[in-house]
Amino acid sequence: MKTVVIGAQWGDEGKGKIVDYLARDAQIIVRFSGGANAGHTIVSGSEQYALHLIPSGALYGDKTVVLGAGMVIDPKALFDEIDMLEQRGISLHGRLFISDRAHIVLPRYIEIDKERDAARKKPIGTTGRGIGITYSMKSDRDGIRVADLAWQEKLDELSAADRSFLECYAERLSACAIDVCAYLSLHNDKNILFEGAQGALLDLDLGTYPYASSGISAAAGASLGGCVGPRALDCILGVFKAYSTRVGNGPFPTEFRAADETEGSLCQFIRETGREYGVTTGRPRRCGYLDLVALRYACRVNSIDKLILTHLDVYDTLSEIKACTAYRINGHETTDFPASIPALSHAEPVLQRFDGWQTPLGAVTHFNALPAAAQAYIAFIEEFCQTPVSIVSVGYERNATLVREEKL
Ligand code: GDP
Ligand code: IMO
Ligand code: MG
Repeated sequence: MKTVVIGAQWGDEGKGKIVDYLARDAQIIVRFSGGANAGHTIVSGSEQYALHLIPSGALYGDKTVVLGAGMVIDPKALFDEIDMLEQRGISLHGRLFISDRAHIVLPRYIEIDKERDAARKKPIGTTGRGIGITYSMKSDRDGIRVADLAWQEKLDELSAADRSFLECYAERLSACAIDVCAYLSLHNDKNILFEGAQGALLDLDLGTYPYASSGISAAAGASLGGCVGPRALDCILGVFKAYSTRVGNGPFPTEFRAADETEGSLCQFIRETGREYGVTTGRPRRCGYLDLVALRYACRVNSIDKLILTHLDVYDTLSEIKACTAYRINGHETTDFPASIPALSHAEPVLQRFDGWQTPLGAVTHFNALPAAAQAYIAFIEEFCQTPVSIVSVGYERNATLVREEKL
């Protein structure tokens, strides 16, 4: 069984928690896109881990983890992360593999990324990890791949500075390098999870371009970046929050307006209750109502089979909640997600009201025991998106996860 897990919003939906949860029943976890711009949080007992490059199944000592061809890998960040995990008792020795087709992030790309974004008239607000520069070197066919590091003749083509940086990591990287396509075809009978980074709305082609990342964070990226054909993928899961967040700049139609007293305090409440601060940069995340127009677009464009709803507990104390069911743009209503940045920036959300449940969900152990108001909210989302919600997360801990067996 090959299962893809992607973010269905603007990233930070809780992919790390969900991949860690699902990894229990998988043998191999393949991260298929992005780089150290990602920050995936896993809470295991009293321990919390923030993973940037390592797939989120890594905490289980018996799982194989693979960094796929669609990734851009900063060697220093990678080995710092591996060393951090080793120090915390999690050894990746012999079970971490890296695609020989993955691209390498050089220190100078990181500098260019920061300088270029700061010089933009309208900065994107990148994470400053060299991601866009590495992907553009790749598409310009000037990139450096993991496979190159094993060949002195390839290293000799580089400048002295690039070569001396890479020579520090070449041996360690080459020791983990594999042909992922060949490896996965040998393990075709295993349960394999393909872990996405970022989210559908940050995808370079399908997201809110140019306010997007530069990798293929859509489900299609699991095939390309995971080195398997598109027909090999059995199930696509889309993770989304009960509300919306976004880090960095770009249009966000349902963002809480700071000038509106109710929305301003709702924003503060959600940011603090949901701990909405970036894992990679520490930036406070922008917060807003759940955007069902955007979520349905993500379902359609990624063929999402099942949705996974996270952070439902953050709404526990509210007497009412709202979600956006259409946009009003220049007097016209639409339920389709526009490509145009000005259209998205002028979109006013049409909001539907729901009763809150005012009960702590963290103590709930079965989906059917969720309060009726929470079940009604979920049923509305399923109907609107024409996609079942198969897992509901009601806290950051592993066990705060309600699986609907009948929808799996
Ligand atoms: P990712 O990038 O999609 O892996 O998400 P992040 O790790 O960047 O951000 C998600 C944050 O929410 C992390 O701090 C998680 O520990 C936390 N989290 C995940 N699921 C839930 C949930 O259901 N409820 C609450 N309250 N927190 C959650
Ligand atoms: P995870 O995997 C949220 C955002 C940045 C910026 C834009 C481009 O944790 O969900 P980049 O450095 O990629 O060129 O930045 O994309 N961004 C993310 N936002 N979660 C992420 O990853 C993100 N990765 C990039 O904030 O707006
Ligand atoms: Mg994150």
